[in-house]
Amino acid sequence: MSRPERWIRLRGKPRGPRAFRRDLAETAPGLGAGDLTALLAADGDEILGWGLYHPSSQVAWRELRRGPEPPDEEWVRAAARAAAERRRRSPEIDERLCRVVHAEGDDLPALVVDRYGDLLAVELFSTAALPLARLALPELHEALGTRHHRLALDAAAARAEGEAAWVETSPGCPELVQVEEDGIRFEIDLRRGHKTGFFLDQRENRARLRRQVAAVEEAEVLDVCCYSGGFALAAAAAGAAAVTAVDLDEEALAMARRNANLNRSRSIRFVQADAFGYLRTLAANGRSFDFVVLDPPKFVPSRRERERGLARYHDLNKLALPLVRPGGLLLTCSCSGLLSALEFQERVRQAARRAGRTARLERLTGAGPDHPVRLDFPEGAYLKALWLRIT
Ligand SMILES: C[S@@+](CC[C@H](N)C(=O)[O-])C[C@H]1O[C@@H](n2cnc3c(N)ncnc32)[C@H](O)[C@@H]1O
Repeated sequence: MSRPERWIRLRGKPRGPRAFRRDLAETAPGLGAGDLTALLAADGDEILGWGLYHPSSQVAWRELRRGPEPPDEEWVRAAARAAAERRRRSPEIDERLCRVVHAEGDDLPALVVDRYGDLLAVELFSTAALPLARLALPELHEALGTRHHRLALDAAAARAEGEAAWVETSPGCPELVQVEEDGIRFEIDLRRGHKTGFFLDQRENRARLRRQVAAVEEAEVLDVCCYSGGFALAAAAAGAAAVTAVDLDEEALAMARRNANLNRSRSIRFVQADAFGYLRTLAANGRSFDFVVLDPPKFVPSRRERERGLARYHDLNKLALPLVRPGGLLLTCSCSGLLSALEFQERVRQAARRAGRTARLERLTGAGPDHPVRLDFPEGAYLKALWLRIT
């Protein structure tokens, strides 16, 4: 078989649908951002797959199609249609409020698409994925009957690739959309919001917390890193007596307050503070809660920041554990894809030991089925939620 014009060669064995720069032995000259490039085996010219290359990203190559056949535009369109169809067929997914494309999990690497009613919020994790988005969007609109989209390059990805972050919208695309999750109304602020605007990945966990809170009389709940109020509103809807919701970001809190007003939730107290300092203050004041939720941002965004991030998970959990009443529940989450569930669990175990509390794992959950994970890409299961009974 003759070697294609654009190729890169692996150093060792293939490992899932990505090749990092350090995994490459050789690259063809002149490869540019987004070039459709063949991945060659370490020995010989066997084509293992075709993917998108980026010259300055640490993820040098992202697989589109496995094997020797290159994907064409119709292949990409078909992948987008298949992703939409999987959501439409699932009895567990709310078709109007779900993740429609989950990057590698839907064979469309570095591309995430969330649906909020008539609108698709698109996030690119590499500029290499822009041509995919351009091909996928018309297919998704057609398949789902959606009208608007907002396309943005993730700020961290932009920095890593030496680009400026940018946003592009369909004509007349609204900046605010209202959605309903589990009977709770949320206004999503696409301009000021984080990521695509709303954390759809916690949908099932919010519903589960709601059921748990409903089973406890006069429950007191603490939602740490509350963003637009997801867990706090779920707890209030379950009839919690008092909910305290804290976030560092004033704009996120403004969204959360608006959402509380939309739902006429009167039991939530919002606090703008750094979680670490605020948890210390609560402990100093002798406060305790039946439920504590920790949903911090990604503390391990890269391999380089692993130890620092692990220490932050440890410290946050160590500060939260003393605030949980005996028999109460700590829902502690990590959205760091580079950390396995076991590694996260181990840090929380150490935190519980340091805090002098016993933590029993009742359940380990993640995102819902609209966030499918390829087994050869376990990083796709980035969200880990430990449901811990504390004594
Ligand atoms: C993953 S989001 C939480 C999503 C939320 N639980 C939901 O259901 O929508 C993480 C939040 O942590 C907040 N945050 C980041 N660092 C923080 C800190 N040091 N203290 C408090 N909040 C922080 C961010 O502003 C962001 O709103």
